[in-house]
Amino acid sequence: MSKMFYYTDAWPLIVDMCPCDVHFTEYLEARNIRNKSIFHFGTGSHHHVGIRCHENGSNNAVLGITASIEEAQSYSKLAIENPRLSRSYKAFFGDIYMLEPRLLPEFDMVTLFHLCEFWGPEMVEAYGAMSDLEVLNLLTDRTRPGGLILFYVKSMAFDRAREVIAVWAKARPVERVEEYKTLLVYRKKA
Ligand SMILES: C[S@@+](CC[C@H](N)C(=O)[O-])C[C@H]1O[C@@H](n2cnc3c(N)ncnc32)[C@H](O)[C@@H]1O
Repeated sequence: MSKMFYYTDAWPLIVDMCPCDVHFTEYLEARNIRNKSIFHFGTGSHHHVGIRCHENGSNNAVLGITASIEEAQSYSKLAIENPRLSRSYKAFFGDIYMLEPRLLPEFDMVTLFHLCEFWGPEMVEAYGAMSDLEVLNLLTDRTRPGGLILFYVKSMAFDRAREVIAVWAKARPVERVEEYKTLLVYRKKA
C-alpha cells in the first residue's frame, strides 16, 4: 500500500520569503471582511491566518489544511492552550489532493496560495490523487456564489498555477476581481 506524499517540514512564518498568509490577513482587514468562512490551504506551523482572524475580532472562521505532521501537532497544542480560538480556527491533517467534497461545507473564501507546489504524478499513480485543476474545481464548487478564491502570484509554482487558473477561468463562472500585494483575487459569480 502506498503512503501519502505528506509534507515533511514545519513551516515557520518567514514574511520576507513567503508573505502570502500575512498579505491575506491584511487583505481581510483592508476590505473589512468579517463573519466569513474561509478554507485555507497550508497553515504553516505559525497558524497565522487562524490566529489573526481570532485576535482581530473579525469573527472570520478558518478551516486550514496541512499535510505536515508537525504543523498538525502544533495546532493541537494551540487549541489546547486557546480553546476560544479553537472554535473559530480548526486545522486538520490531510492531503488537499485527496479532499472529499461530501465532507466539506460551503465557504465564503478559499485560499489556494500553494496550488501546483506540491503535486506530482506519483501521487496519482500511487493513490488516485486529484490534479490541481480538479482541486480548484472542487473548491470552486464548495465556494458560495459571490465568494472569493485567492491565489499567490509569488508562489514558486505560479507559472504552472497560472495555466491551471486560465483553464479554470474559461470553464467556470468566475471573474477576476483584483490583485492585492502578492495575491490574485477571483470571485465566483452570483
Ligand atoms: C511552504 S508552507 C507555507 C505555509 C503558509 N501558507 C505560509 O506561507 O507561511 C506550505 C504549506 O502547505 C502545506 N501542504 C503541502 N502539501 C500539502 C498537501 N498535499 N495538502 C495539504 N497541505 C499541504 C504544508 O503542510 C504547509 O503548511
